[in-house]
Amino acid sequence: MDPYRFFVPTEIHFSPGAIGQVGRQAARFGRKVMLVTGRQSSRRSGALDGAVDSLRAAGLEVIVFDQVEENPSDRTVAAGARMAREKSCDVVVALGGGSPMDAAKGVAILAVLDGPLAQYYGSGRVDRPVLPVVAAPTTAGTGSEVTPYAVFVESENDLKCSVASPHIFPRVALLDPELTLSMPPAITANTGIDALTHALEGFTSVKAQPISDQLALRAIALINEHLPAAVSHGDRLEPREHLLHASMLAGMVIAQTGTTLIHGMGYAPTTRYGIPHGLANGVLMDQVVIFNGERNPDRYAALALALGGTVESSMAPQEAARTLRELRSRVGMPGRLRDLGVAQGDLEDFARQTMLHSRNLDNNARDVTLKDVLKIYQDSY
Ligand SMILES: [Fe+2]
Repeated sequence: MDPYRFFVPTEIHFSPGAIGQVGRQAARFGRKVMLVTGRQSSRRSGALDGAVDSLRAAGLEVIVFDQVEENPSDRTVAAGARMAREKSCDVVVALGGGSPMDAAKGVAILAVLDGPLAQYYGSGRVDRPVLPVVAAPTTAGTGSEVTPYAVFVESENDLKCSVASPHIFPRVALLDPELTLSMPPAITANTGIDALTHALEGFTSVKAQPISDQLALRAIALINEHLPAAVSHGDRLEPREHLLHASMLAGMVIAQTGTTLIHGMGYAPTTRYGIPHGLANGVLMDQVVIFNGERNPDRYAALALALGGTVESSMAPQEAARTLRELRSRVGMPGRLRDLGVAQGDLEDFARQTMLHSRNLDNNARDVTLKDVLKIYQDSY
């Protein structure tokens, strides 16, 4: 067996009602809290009030920053960090989906280190501790509560840029499946498929390793089994619990392996058309599996099995792709880029942009050329 290393330093609390502990957990790190959240959904669902009540009950001073948009920009992060510095915050609480959690990580960085955020894009550039983050996800997808990553949109050029550093792992993750009950069906589907692609890409990454493989296969099986029910019966707690658990497992996977070609290709449709991250990944995943699978059929046999398919190694990538398409339609997700309003003339530009995401391409088990990427976009159109 090859040597491996597995590292997730986040303390995880999983239970219905876990958000009620946010005050107690945040109080471990200081007295002044910046709570980072989105503009609407946590307010509407009551999650924000619940979190603020818990923080105040623990005797903490709370500063709410609720300006996080979908796909947060460097500007939003800078505004939040300015406020955190002015108020001398000791700890950042993230409440929401991937966008607020990533924005909170950015705020935690710039509250301590000098900006601009752009100087920390890439791997390992945040080289010392930043403000501690307590993360409470309200979607089951990103896994950001257990990863060392944060993705931002650079306002200069609309490109997605990411920060990777062990210093931005949240210190505590509060996984409360009740917070995910209010997610509408389409967001449930998109975020669930995002988590699925994390596990799938991690399992087939060049950095795949024995622990993350086990987590990935379990996450894939759980999402395949429970996502349709979470979409069609969103008020049932049990499928929500499985999905939140699975998205966290998938987050632990990519914390080790990174993401690969599906994510690399998904960024351009998101920044150009505002297509939700998980949806962009979802329309591309089956064609990427077919492309990558040619090189490593055994791994794809295990993948097909985790997806509930039959296993015949020579056809494993096709079989895995078939079950992915089936899942996509069971959760009501469109199957093609054209269904999302993408103009065919943009595909070449998308392919060029994908080639800039070298970290994703380096992690991909099969070498990828511009021509390959364009072909996958075309096959997904
Ligand atoms: Fe993702």
